Amino acid sequence: MKVKKAVIPAAGFGTRILPATKAQPKEMLVIVDKPSLQYIVEELVDSGIEDIIIITGRNKNSIEDHFDYSYEIEETLKNEKKKELLEKIQHISSMANIFYVRQNHPLGLGHAILKAKPFIGDEPFVVALGDDIVHNPEYPVAKQLIDVYNKYGVSIVGCQEVSKKDVSKYGIVKPIKSLDENTNIIEDFIEKPAIEDAPSLFACLGRYLLNGKIFKYLENGKIGKDGEIQLTDAILDMLKDGEQVISYNFMGKRYDIGNKIGLLKANIEFGLINKETRENLKEYLREELQNFLKNLK
Ligand code: UTP
Repeated sequence: MKVKKAVIPAAGFGTRILPATKAQPKEMLVIVDKPSLQYIVEELVDSGIEDIIIITGRNKNSIEDHFDYSYEIEETLKNEKKKELLEKIQHISSMANIFYVRQNHPLGLGHAILKAKPFIGDEPFVVALGDDIVHNPEYPVAKQLIDVYNKYGVSIVGCQEVSKKDVSKYGIVKPIKSLDENTNIIEDFIEKPAIEDAPSLFACLGRYLLNGKIFKYLENGKIGKDGEIQLTDAILDMLKDGEQVISYNFMGKRYDIGNKIGLLKANIEFGLINKETRENLKEYLREELQNFLKNLK
């Protein structure tokens, strides 16, 4: 079955970057000149996804406004003959079919994904976390997952290798059989293990391709730690039931914009890519670095 749908959970409170997220969604925090969520929607569209469902919650209206048609701005840009900017703005509201579902209480990532069930049915679908940007313009990460799904036809968790000191921050997979260079059948995964208990260095990082069976496990799922319904628990239940799940080590640079340092890094690195900001930012960083090194002496 062709993968045409994707879910972006974006209903979390974003407590790690308060107070910025007190009245605005973290998914709308700006990376250079676009909200981070737009980078994710563009990745999905560039991967061939046609329908996107965004799980929203309180204080998230700006998400809907951003992807909507904006009459006043478009008219102004037309009158001012700002063609390039007008095209950029028109592109935002026309690039995909975007639907919204509210998660009234953010009871966890699993609970957010369950909200998409009526929209997904039993089709395979991509999950892209609203606070994880993966930069790979040549081969968008959702497209990589779709290609792997088309080859193996089972649920996939997107992973990347992390350093030993970081394994305790993530869900770490236990691969049991390699299918090809980047793809492994997994047997288990462990949430935030100590390094001595980690079954590998491969962490689940913000991208999944799941088949509709996941909803059964989310519905039957218990409330996990922190009083939340966890996606990882549902995937584990699937594995226990004998369903095959594979891990795929995706290619691309990932930014976790859900924490302060990740947000800063993304702004600097995307600022160095953006042709309008690149030269000025380089100059600024050069000066700052020189001053910093001088002060070290
Ligand atoms: P996070 O756990 O990183 O988001 O969830 P959070 O809860 O907003 O983070 P902190 O710890 O309070 O800072 C990953 C993604 O899943 C969404 C979030 O919006 C984020 O994009 N999410 C999380 C939901 O949609 N609903 C939830 O109940 C939890």
